[in-house]
Amino acid sequence: MTELILSLDVTGLKEALRIAGACAPEIDAIKVGYPLALAAGLGIAGELAGFGLPLIADFKVADIPNTNTLICEQVFAAGFSAVIAQGFPGPDSVAACVEAAHAHGGECYVVAEMSHPGALTFFSAGVPERLCEIVAETGADGIIAPATRPERVRALRALIGKKKILSPGIGAQGGDPAEIAPLVDGMIVGRSIYGAADPAAAARTYAPYRR
Ligand code: XMP
Repeated sequence: MTELILSLDVTGLKEALRIAGACAPEIDAIKVGYPLALAAGLGIAGELAGFGLPLIADFKVADIPNTNTLICEQVFAAGFSAVIAQGFPGPDSVAACVEAAHAHGGECYVVAEMSHPGALTFFSAGVPERLCEIVAETGADGIIAPATRPERVRALRALIGKKKILSPGIGAQGGDPAEIAPLVDGMIVGRSIYGAADPAAAARTYAPYRR
């Protein structure tokens, strides 16, 4: 199953609820990042809960273990079902996120490699591969890997096996859903859905790639 995850990076509560409501029948989960959470507060999770979809907190949590625990406790208490963490602070920091997530029946995903051009400055030379080892060591549920580089997704899939891969970079950043969908568990799509004149219709264009 390749899920379609709407990245809801709008900054108005009413707009967020309108787009989520229109798209809900066409998507499998909603990802909330800093743009919406900072604009609307963590209570946005409660506001979106009515749509009955899993809610992923894309806060790229990247602090010391104790602070990561405190952050993730807030995330899951608010009603999110998954959190995205950075792996570069190290295995103990990731483990703190994984433990908090699992204690709440949630999931934790680790950024293995980012989708934008500049990501290669640091997400290269074996770093993504080491981050995949940390995913295995900590029991994290999967990785975030770039739809803009399908060959890298294939390489990382070989390392993480059956753990999930969620992949941003489709649409606005140039990633091709036809190529990436067979490689991953979730397609993360933002601007090409929420920025469309008809977001529900835009979401429906991904239906052929949802398996
Ligand atoms: P667009 O509008 O480009 O939105 O479809 C993509 C969403 O995904 C986030 N993003 C990433 N998150 N690793 C991540 O963890 C990445 O490499 C990455 N690339 C994009 C982005 O913040 C937006 O919410």
